[in-house]
Amino acid sequence: MYSLIKKILFLLDPETSHTISLKALKWCHRLGLTKLFSTKIKAPCEFMGLHFENPIGLAAGLDKNADYVDALSDLGFGFIEIGTVTPRTQMGNPKPRLFRLVNEEAIINRMGFNNKGADYVVKNLKKSRYRGVLGINIGKNKETPLDQAADDYVICFRKLAPFASYITINISSPNTPDLRNLQASAQLDALLTTMKAEQQYFNVEYQRYVPLVVKIAPDLTDDEVKEIAAILIAKKIDGVIATNTTISRDGINESRYKNEAGGLSGKPLQKRSADIIKKLHQHLQDRIPIIGVGGIMDEASANEKWKAGAKLLQIYTGFIFKGPGLIKRLSRTKMSS
Ligand SMILES: Cc1cc2nc3c(=O)[nH]c(=O)nc-3n(C[C@H](O)[C@H](O)[C@H](O)COP(=O)(O)O)c2cc1C
Repeated sequence: MYSLIKKILFLLDPETSHTISLKALKWCHRLGLTKLFSTKIKAPCEFMGLHFENPIGLAAGLDKNADYVDALSDLGFGFIEIGTVTPRTQMGNPKPRLFRLVNEEAIINRMGFNNKGADYVVKNLKKSRYRGVLGINIGKNKETPLDQAADDYVICFRKLAPFASYITINISSPNTPDLRNLQASAQLDALLTTMKAEQQYFNVEYQRYVPLVVKIAPDLTDDEVKEIAAILIAKKIDGVIATNTTISRDGINESRYKNEAGGLSGKPLQKRSADIIKKLHQHLQDRIPIIGVGGIMDEASANEKWKAGAKLLQIYTGFIFKGPGLIKRLSRTKMSS
């Protein structure tokens, strides 16, 4: 069924087909049709004090504004991460900014945090009926200077934490100029000190501990991974997502889009992100759970992530190329690994 839908969707420009398919999914949900196909995939697990129905989640970027959370939840994800959300609405980069590399099973995107801002997302989440694990991925607006980035993360945390199972601090998108500099030791240490204080304050005020998760890039050196791991432990961060998209073009030979600027995701990212997870796990051991993401397209690539040390997985590009059936297939790998 999905291969037929995909054939039609892949005829359209990627951003148009993205919007159409999500809107169609929402309509199917409203009409009660998704319930007919909805699957509850049971492979329960607990991390960060949260209960996951299964360990396969939707990665950030697909539903930037929480417009589709209820509809997406019918597809069987064990958790859903929305965003990246910035304090204020922003358009993102000019189109075209999303490219499908069909033969490589990959995507290049330079969306640039197009989103409707934290207040809009709050309105949506107030209406949502989803009660599963919801991650909210936050970032800074493009025009906010890097030395004031923490203010943007704090604004987002204060507005969104009441609706979040966990908050992801995104410092690894390649499409917001200089954002990745926040991964450098001094900057990361300062940002996480601020965010831990926010978490603590929220905990005291509202009697709820909202785990903080940091999302890192796949383009880090071994030394950088080691330094980041040390800071995550020192700051008592609750989880880490590895990885975001890559600026490398390894594994892309022929596509006419290979020279497009942006982050590459999907199959060519798989090994690179698994390597980062492995190195991260060597430093963290099991003190901080790793959420593995990057090029998970089938059971074999999922198994590689489990072996590298991931405790939960997320998918984006694999979901686009293989469809919702992938969630169930991947949940089984966990159960048998
Ligand atoms: C079109 C697109 C938009 C994305 N937007 C975001 C985003 O806003 N925030 C974020 O943290 N990651 C974003 N990502 C990265 C994904 O969450 C994921 O980390 C990455 O694509 C690797 O996983 P994959 O190979 O399964 O796609 C985006 C990815 C794609 C393809």
